[in-house]
Amino acid sequence: MIRVNNLCFSYTKKPFIENTNFEVESGEIFGFLGPSGAGKSTLQKILTGLITSYRGSVIVNGEEVRRHDNGFYENIGVDFEFPSLYEKLTARENLKFFASLYNKHRDIDKLLLSVGLINDADKKVSDFSKGMKSRLNFIKALLHDPQILFLDEPTSGLDPSSSRVMKDIILDEKTKGKTIILTTHNMYDATELCDRVAFIVDGKIRALDTPRSLIMGRGASKIAYTYLDNGREVRTEIPLCKTSEDETLSRLLRENRLLSIHSGEPTLNDIFVELTGRQLQ
Ligand SMILES: Nc1ncnc2c1ncn2[C@@H]1O[C@H](COP(=O)(O)OP(=O)(O)O)[C@@H](O)[C@H]1O
Ligand SMILES: [Mg+2]
Repeated sequence: MIRVNNLCFSYTKKPFIENTNFEVESGEIFGFLGPSGAGKSTLQKILTGLITSYRGSVIVNGEEVRRHDNGFYENIGVDFEFPSLYEKLTARENLKFFASLYNKHRDIDKLLLSVGLINDADKKVSDFSKGMKSRLNFIKALLHDPQILFLDEPTSGLDPSSSRVMKDIILDEKTKGKTIILTTHNMYDATELCDRVAFIVDGKIRALDTPRSLIMGRGASKIAYTYLDNGREVRTEIPLCKTSEDETLSRLLRENRLLSIHSGEPTLNDIFVELTGRQLQ
């Protein structure tokens, strides 16, 4: 569905995105995961035809994006990082207006209902909270039932229950065969939703694989334990495979002095730090 070859782009004279290659299969949820300023939104802007001064080739749904025709957006839905809505219009008026730009559209009330906005449908967007605007902007991307969805930090700043609703809709779109590009710096969302993720730092893809392979292939499971030492709580982390050799742990177990002990596989954030030396947040 998407094929990127030798992509190069920079806002300045200094190279930023350089010789980047990746492909996204039809029906896949593909994540861009990286810290703020990594270039995730820039990549989305290139893939959606907002930035056309790139070098290399970017094919989306069979079209070279810099030469896209008017029909290009019939099959592309974009949820921008910052909501782009008409503040003086109501939610329903916004959706009706945007629907009129496309050949076909979904049922507006059903969409409003799906994100809990049906009772606010006739309120002006200027009276909406940030979270309500995010939800409206999200369904705006789904409005014309596009084959490819570009979602830039869709759950950012949402309360947990709105975020859950949105993630369930994203998974539902996948079951309908849609291809979804999801940008996030939330490792939990990436792990749960994405079939594959690309780790992005300073405009470069530093790793690309399924979350499971990244986690299982790179990181060792760890155990963490806590105990009191001269009245001060100490936390120690060791690889799970070193448990039997850890003398402190053996002594604490013998002396019944352990406060807590937990085991766990590494998170996508641990792997991100290991591979890039950077934190996600
Ligand atoms: N329009 C622009 N002009 C110049 N620099 C920009 C512009 N947009 C983004 N940048 C810079 O490009 C880098 C990547 O930004 P962005 O793609 O928004 O990152 P992310 O979405 O990963 O947080 C940042 O250093 C940002 O300051
Ligand atoms: Mg961004």
